[in-house]
Amino acid sequence: MRDPAMIETVAVIGLGTIGTGWVARFAAAGLAVRAFDPDAAQREALPEAIRQVLRDGGHGEAAEALRLSLHDTLEEAVSGADFIQENVPERQAIKADVLGRLDRAAPVDVIISTSTSGLMLGQFQEALSAPERTVVGHPFHPVYLMPLVEVVPGPRTAPEAADAAARFYERVGHVAVTLQKEAPGHLVNRLQAALWREAVACVEDGIASVEQVDKAVVNCLGPRWSVVGPHMAFHLGGGKGGLRHFVEQLGPGIQKRWNEFRTPDLAAMTDTLVRGVEEEAGGRDLNTLQRERDRKLSALLAHLAG
Ligand SMILES: NC(=O)c1ccc[n+]([C@@H]2O[C@H](COP(=O)([O-])OP(=O)(O)OC[C@H]3O[C@@H](n4cnc5c(N)ncnc54)[C@H](O)[C@@H]3O)[C@@H](O)[C@H]2O)c1
Repeated sequence: MRDPAMIETVAVIGLGTIGTGWVARFAAAGLAVRAFDPDAAQREALPEAIRQVLRDGGHGEAAEALRLSLHDTLEEAVSGADFIQENVPERQAIKADVLGRLDRAAPVDVIISTSTSGLMLGQFQEALSAPERTVVGHPFHPVYLMPLVEVVPGPRTAPEAADAAARFYERVGHVAVTLQKEAPGHLVNRLQAALWREAVACVEDGIASVEQVDKAVVNCLGPRWSVVGPHMAFHLGGGKGGLRHFVEQLGPGIQKRWNEFRTPDLAAMTDTLVRGVEEEAGGRDLNTLQRERDRKLSALLAHLAG
């Protein structure tokens, strides 16, 4: 595998929400980016969108020095790239086709990383000639702000490839967590789904409104989990006896709740949830809400990094 410290040029394939975020992340780190999307409108809008994100994020110099080339074919974008980040729509047939083309086009020491949120790499690897250099590199929206990337090896991924991908992501400012094996939803989306299941159940049972659930998370679990994870939080919650004491004292109640949790009916709850977020938004449009989120998130992350 190419030395992650020497990677200079990245190909970004698929320039929607996530591809655009990756371009900004790589450009902010001073790397050259070769970009492809079959939709010409997506390609044309990209340079200005990236400059805007970089300026808003305090990377004015990177915006001026932007090295971004747009290509009409996937093969041309990949040519000369040291690392490939694939972000095409989350559809089995499209992913299989694009991963196959990338596998044929790129030298075998170039890592091909897919951003897939929900597909398993293992189902694509058998059809590839060099599956050992493929890996999942799953980011979080917005990619240029969120620190974490989950690196997930498929059954045919070489450990050196997963390791090199993780080191490369760390080099561009991410925190990489390499999972021990693939699983549907990787790690974070499993955790997120578990919390949301109970959040929706609380609304369905009339315990709290959508806005109240969000308020509780933002003002308690969010701040706590931005500094310690759920295990460490309970270790500290156990006082001098740590996690063991915590479990002895509060474990039976938690186990009972786990056993009693039930799965809400998401389809039946959708209208209620949509009305709830609209009330919570209080007339602010999506663009306004997104900018508010990004502003607060950048301030929080800058504070935590400091
Ligand atoms: N949206 C998220 O929050 C999120 C988070 C993490 C990972 N992901 C993953 O990232 C990937 C992309 O998701 P998105 O939300 O950016 O989707 P999107 O629909 O915003 O963008 C997909 C882009 O791929 C382009 N495309 C279609 N066919 C293509 C092809 N054959 N070759 C190259 N490009 C092609 C489309 O024109 C579009 O611009 C998915 O695998 C998704 O699971 C999404």
